[in-house]
Amino acid sequence: MIRALVTGCRGQVGSELLRALDGRAEVIARDRGSLDLGDADAIRRCLRDERPQLIVNAGAYTAVDKAETDLDAARAVNARAPGILAEEAKRQGAVLVHFSTDYVFDGGKGAPYLEEDATAPLSVYGASKLSGERMALAACPRTLVLRTSWVISAYGKNFVKTMLRIAREGAPLRVVDDQFGRPTAAADLAAFVLAQAPRLAAAPAGAPVFGLFHFANAGETSWRGLAQATVEIGLGPDAPAVAPIATAERPSPARRPLRATLDTSKLEAVFGWRPRPWRDALGEIVAELAKAEAPAR
Ligand SMILES: NC(=O)c1ccc[n+]([C@@H]2O[C@H](COP(=O)([O-])OP(=O)(O)OC[C@H]3O[C@@H](n4cnc5c(N)ncnc54)[C@H](OP(=O)(O)O)[C@@H]3O)[C@@H](O)[C@H]2O)c1
Repeated sequence: MIRALVTGCRGQVGSELLRALDGRAEVIARDRGSLDLGDADAIRRCLRDERPQLIVNAGAYTAVDKAETDLDAARAVNARAPGILAEEAKRQGAVLVHFSTDYVFDGGKGAPYLEEDATAPLSVYGASKLSGERMALAACPRTLVLRTSWVISAYGKNFVKTMLRIAREGAPLRVVDDQFGRPTAAADLAAFVLAQAPRLAAAPAGAPVFGLFHFANAGETSWRGLAQATVEIGLGPDAPAVAPIATAERPSPARRPLRATLDTSKLEAVFGWRPRPWRDALGEIVAELAKAEAPAR
């Protein structure tokens, strides 16, 4: 069994990783309380004590708006920590899997983004994630960076849950309709990492499985489209119509790309991984939420 350390294990991706790896790997799970990614010494100590073969960095400073005024914390977690994890991975002969974001792009390309396209983050969060992926890739040749987008799951405070709650309360739903992307199930990211773990652990530096890849479920939509699909799956014929609004109508501290859709053909070619449609993944999430909410018999 592979010895795998998961950081940020209570987040959307971290939680799904723990679920996927349970019984299939020797898992060392670290949440913010047991490994603060803002503490460089703590990261080094943890890795030297635990000596994992696979490090999966699911922890991140993901509060996109808050990051605009909390620069140091966002940079420590999103930029410095992946670099340190990668340095230690190299020292110990381990593999690092790290996650980055479509927010490294400005969204103005007019076509899906390839891994080699020029980056131009619009926010502190995007810039800190871009530094993090660069630091990780520079420090350890056995690093896999998965840039992903619009992560959805049944865990934590999340978009799917929020839309269902508002719809059930009967409150009007008004959601941004001019930002487009590819929703991605945290469960699918976790399933991919689980499936590839043996291959990654056996691959030498320089193997094609390392480097930068885009990972997303198939299909593009707007946030309104995602919200509409969520309430239709969750409420069936009672689903309300989600009204479209423009980004400009809902100002926020951080700017977001309007269309930073990720092209995943490199991942599909190198790993032979075919992303499933986001609606299929969303259906599972809504079903899981319904099951969790159902009164126990
Ligand atoms: N969510 C998205 O739409 C999205 C889109 C593109 C890329 N990504 C990337 O995908 C990865 C996983 O994101 P996610 O959706 O799973 O995010 P998430 O649900 O916000 O989880 C992030 C986890 O990191 C933890 N964390 C924050 N600061 C920390 C620190 N100083 N030390 C240790 N842990 C810390 C959080 O803990 P607390 O709960 O205690 O804060 C949380 O459990 C991240 O790299 C993210 O940048 C996400």
